[in-house]
Amino acid sequence: MIPPYNIILRQATAADAREIVAGINEVCAEKHYFSTPHYIPTPQWEIALRSPERAPDHLLYVVENERKIIGAAQILPSGTIRGVGELGIFLLSRFRNRKIGTELVMAILDHAKLYYDDVVLFVLATNGRAIRCFKKCGFAEHSRRLHNYAHLGPREQIMMQMQ
Ligand SMILES: CC(C)(COP(=O)(O)OP(=O)(O)OC[C@H]1O[C@@H](n2cnc3c(N)ncnc32)[C@H](O)[C@@H]1OP(=O)(O)O)[C@@H](O)C(=O)NCCC(=O)NCCS
Repeated sequence: MIPPYNIILRQATAADAREIVAGINEVCAEKHYFSTPHYIPTPQWEIALRSPERAPDHLLYVVENERKIIGAAQILPSGTIRGVGELGIFLLSRFRNRKIGTELVMAILDHAKLYYDDVVLFVLATNGRAIRCFKKCGFAEHSRRLHNYAHLGPREQIMMQMQ
């Protein structure tokens, strides 16, 4: 499937960090998709953003349109289970629903085979479009839990795992 925008998919470099964080914060501000109110600088994220050459298993991809970053996806080591990566993704709102997300997930998953035995993700149960996108890419629901988010209130979260 060729998306209607002229897009470039590539691995991020440290020079992309500011634009990626700005994009994450823009999506957080929509208050529909992410479970944090803004970018949270975890150790895994900071390595992926600022010094990707130090950790080849910290996968961070970006999508560009007209030299601007319009989305990103990451697979970072799960804090708890060795060999398991955790996937996250965003596109800026006007670029959604055009199969770009599916292309991006498939590209980063292909790369993740080098480093991870399994890939999981967490998605709000209300996020039907993301769930559909992830299912198309081979994920299936693993479990659900109710979580009380400081900025969203109680929301159901689904954990998905590669089938
Ligand atoms: C999630 C996201 C990356 C998906 O990328 P995308 O390019 O929009 O998705 P795609 O176009 O590849 O696929 C979306 C699919 O969901 C379907 N869809 C759209 N809205 C839907 C809805 N409300 N419920 C169910 N399915 C829906 C589309 O029809 C499409 O399926 P199809 O190809 O079978 O027609 C993107 O929408 C996004 O960035 N959303 C905001 C951030 C976010 O939710 N991130 C994930 C947090 S875990």
